[in-house]
Amino acid sequence: MQSMLKDKTIIVGVCGGIAAYKACDVVSKLTQAGAEVWVTVTKEAAQLVTPLTFRTLSRNPVILDLFADELAQIPVPHISITDRADLFMIIPATANIIGKIAQGIADDPLTTMLMAATCPKVLCPAMNNNMWNNPLVQENVNKLNKLGYKFLGPEVGHLACEKDDIGRMVEPQTIIDAAIKMLSQAKDLDGQRILVTAGPTYEDLDPVRFIGNRSSGKMGYALAQAAAERGAEVTLISGPTKLTPPENVKLIQVKSALDMQKAVLANFKQTDSLIMAAAVSDFAPEKMQTQKIKKGKSKSRLVKLSKTPDILADLRKIKGKKKIIGFAAETENLMAGAKQKLKDKGLDFIVANDVSRTDIGFDSDYNEVKIISRQGQVFPSQKLPKLDVANIILDHVR
Ligand code: C5P
Repeated sequence: MQSMLKDKTIIVGVCGGIAAYKACDVVSKLTQAGAEVWVTVTKEAAQLVTPLTFRTLSRNPVILDLFADELAQIPVPHISITDRADLFMIIPATANIIGKIAQGIADDPLTTMLMAATCPKVLCPAMNNNMWNNPLVQENVNKLNKLGYKFLGPEVGHLACEKDDIGRMVEPQTIIDAAIKMLSQAKDLDGQRILVTAGPTYEDLDPVRFIGNRSSGKMGYALAQAAAERGAEVTLISGPTKLTPPENVKLIQVKSALDMQKAVLANFKQTDSLIMAAAVSDFAPEKMQTQKIKKGKSKSRLVKLSKTPDILADLRKIKGKKKIIGFAAETENLMAGAKQKLKDKGLDFIVANDVSRTDIGFDSDYNEVKIISRQGQVFPSQKLPKLDVANIILDHVR
């Protein structure tokens, strides 16, 4: 696996935390594995570890000043180097750098290069436990998580302030392993056509009212984003959401369960895998009123609902060798319910998540799931940002 690092361009941004000394080990290991490593250090980091150390370990000039004579040979260094970077890692990531990135500040070489980088970005936080727990830091971390920045750690362990608490940077080998994993999965879905459904469906009662549900669409959008990032050709069929569609994804917007079924059927033939993350309404008003229903004098009103088509179950006959992954959002008997759906709908995998929890699932930026295979194997995930959960689910699509 070390070979995954060969000829890869990796930028290491070093910030002014005492864990900066560990960045030396990471740079050394990356270079030894054949990666082209460029190090950019903040002024504070340069006080802790001299740029000469990083220059010797990386065999490249260290970027401390974009206008330095040493970089004169490289035209527009903050663009030309970042343009070919496969990975950008910040080791260690201080509370300050996390805050600056979250606010879109680019006032030194490190933040300027990061701003220009389109490759995956990894942050390895290291700071005092109170700093890490500060709501401002947590808000910035959440914001960056949502934008696709990957955080490694921090861990609980010995801190420079002589406490044992959360805030310790992950070990260099963990960072190397993560780099290998991210680079090796970078384009592993190249050539695959993946259809993803997301969000709720709205079933109209009248021109202004509908039956819907609390699905935000975040899980489906994360799946579409992750699949596109891994090289797949992605079509995203989305119910009504407030989300911005991911880059490089073909978006088809639908409203009702019936619309969604039509869109799935129209695209199913030309797909290799379908991931049904949408929370499709199981019932719809039997008749949509063409005018707004009047309140009237009666104390109650009956609305007759009829079942919507079960999109997944109806695909059984035409499934062939295509992979189909469904979701089971349950508020009780999670595993039993999910296993039953896996069987009833003839799926390859089902992703079970507990929607009674408020910290994960519907509308949360996090999820914690159990992926169950047709053969009965269960792959549990930890509570992670939805993009990370999406990547774990996609590991089963390959
Ligand atoms: O039957 P239930 O709604 O609990 O099953 C959930 C799974 O089935 C999800 O993957 C969802 O997208 C899909 N589904 C469907 N058609 C429906 C309802 C749900 O394909 N009418």
